[in-house]
Amino acid sequence: MSFQNLKITDADGIRTITINRPEKLNALNVTTVAELDAVISEIEADEAIEAVVITGAGDKAFVAGADISELATLGPVEAKEFALRGQAVFSRLERLSKPVVAAVNGYALGGGCELSMACHIRVAAANAVFGQPEVKLGLIPGYGGTQRLPRLVGRGRALEILLTGRNVKADEAHAIGLVNRVCDLSELEGVVEELLKTVLANGPLAVSHCLEAVNSGLDMGLDDACLLEATLFGVGAASDQMREGTTAFLERRKPEFRRS
Ligand code: COA
Repeated sequence: MSFQNLKITDADGIRTITINRPEKLNALNVTTVAELDAVISEIEADEAIEAVVITGAGDKAFVAGADISELATLGPVEAKEFALRGQAVFSRLERLSKPVVAAVNGYALGGGCELSMACHIRVAAANAVFGQPEVKLGLIPGYGGTQRLPRLVGRGRALEILLTGRNVKADEAHAIGLVNRVCDLSELEGVVEELLKTVLANGPLAVSHCLEAVNSGLDMGLDDACLLEATLFGVGAASDQMREGTTAFLERRKPEFRRS
């Protein structure tokens, strides 16, 4: 499928989605969100895609937010629909059974910060700037920011960031757990590639079960979440991959996980 606002590249089982509106700092308009939804369907259906990277075109922005020119005209019913639509797409992204890494190469404001938080892991270039500046526009975040930010950085820090709308630079984002790693912009692609190489060398079923256990478990009580973990642990034990991983350890060799 070809897209107006996304650039897609596939290499070594990794699909890279580049949000491609650099003249608007990759702001997410309705078309871009619909295209993200479509590409998520492709990723779900394509077994050859084992991991996903999301980044922004150019060297200034990951995504500078939802497109304010579209927001400005919304009435209340449309605005709620707009938020629900974006939330649904970001939740689909978060629920993918393949690892998704945000390579944050500049401004990640508003919907951009929210998009990065819906990814499983965030790697930021040193020039990255995070924030939820919606209050400055008389709005609140609508793509999950009020919920994912406190889950990542804690309630007090999230409220301070949400209520002030201030910018959070890469080093601070790292210190508060909003991003996993920070590196030079020139190294971003390589750092993300190395990270995913490490993940993809592991048992594929185990990787997808980790994603499911964390994503679903965090929305449950601890007892139910641990039961989910035990069930997935059991399912894993029925797989050749678990047999291969444990046997390889005992035979002092590298495991060779068959991808099915
Ligand atoms: N929606 C629509 N257009 C946006 C945008 C957004 N969220 N963010 C940037 N743009 C557009 C600008 O309007 C400008 O377009 P123009 O050249 O046609 O006028 C272009 O992208 C470049 O942005 P500009 O503001 O000139 O760059 P800058 O380097 O001076 O400032 C930012 C960069 C990120 C600080 C600034 O663009 C900004 O504050 N953006 C909005 C951030 C925001 O509030 N996001 C949350 C939205 S809910």
